[in-house]
Amino acid sequence: MIIKSAEFVMSNSEVAKCPKNNLPEYAFIGRSNVGKSSLINMLTNHKNLAKTSGRPGKTQLINHFLINKNWFLVDLPGYGYARVSKSSKKQFQRFIPDYFQERQQLVLAFVLVDIRHEAQKIDLEFMEYMGENGIPFSIIFTKADKLKPKAIERNVAAYLQELLKTWEETPQYFVTSSSSAIGRDEVLNEIERTNRQMNALKEQS
Ligand code: GTP
Ligand code: MG
Repeated sequence: MIIKSAEFVMSNSEVAKCPKNNLPEYAFIGRSNVGKSSLINMLTNHKNLAKTSGRPGKTQLINHFLINKNWFLVDLPGYGYARVSKSSKKQFQRFIPDYFQERQQLVLAFVLVDIRHEAQKIDLEFMEYMGENGIPFSIIFTKADKLKPKAIERNVAAYLQELLKTWEETPQYFVTSSSSAIGRDEVLNEIERTNRQMNALKEQS
């Protein structure tokens, strides 16, 4: 898919205030610092569309980016970051379940995990939550530039193995790097395919 335009639309602390139109949207979620905002910049080919930082806890609101004037990418705060104050943690962590439970326009979530690490409890629990709530998701492994191809293969296999302890089948997954654009076409093609499916459904109804 070709990205012709990518624009920041709004930041919100409440799901009810998010864009009202019915465009399909794709959300990025995962631990703080895993690379959600960087991935949005990589996919859209913009350096600073989404704000990134070496320190966790950068993204604190629900951010909508309108792509090609007809679908949204959504950057969310990360979970699992302990160093923000208790009250602000409570407040922004509340968006996450609200967003996933209430946002009708969400068609697919991408759960990001750092390819260098073993499966972490907090991510596995989050995926379980998505499964229990019937929210479709794919996994995106991030920071693949930090590992050699063999190690990538080994870590992905180990991760999928871990998932198979609780899931009957593993979700679709992508291996990406925001610094070297690995996985860009694959993720964009999946979004394009899903957009087409959504349009076909709309035409049927
Ligand atoms: P929060 O908004 O705090 O939840 O973090 P985030 O998940 O949005 O992470 P962000 O995109 O801000 O990136 C965190 C750090 O990881 C930054 O220093 C990025 O430069 C770095 N980073 C992100 N993606 C990659 C990648 O693919 N490769 C490498 N080497 N570094 C990355
Ligand atoms: Mg961020």
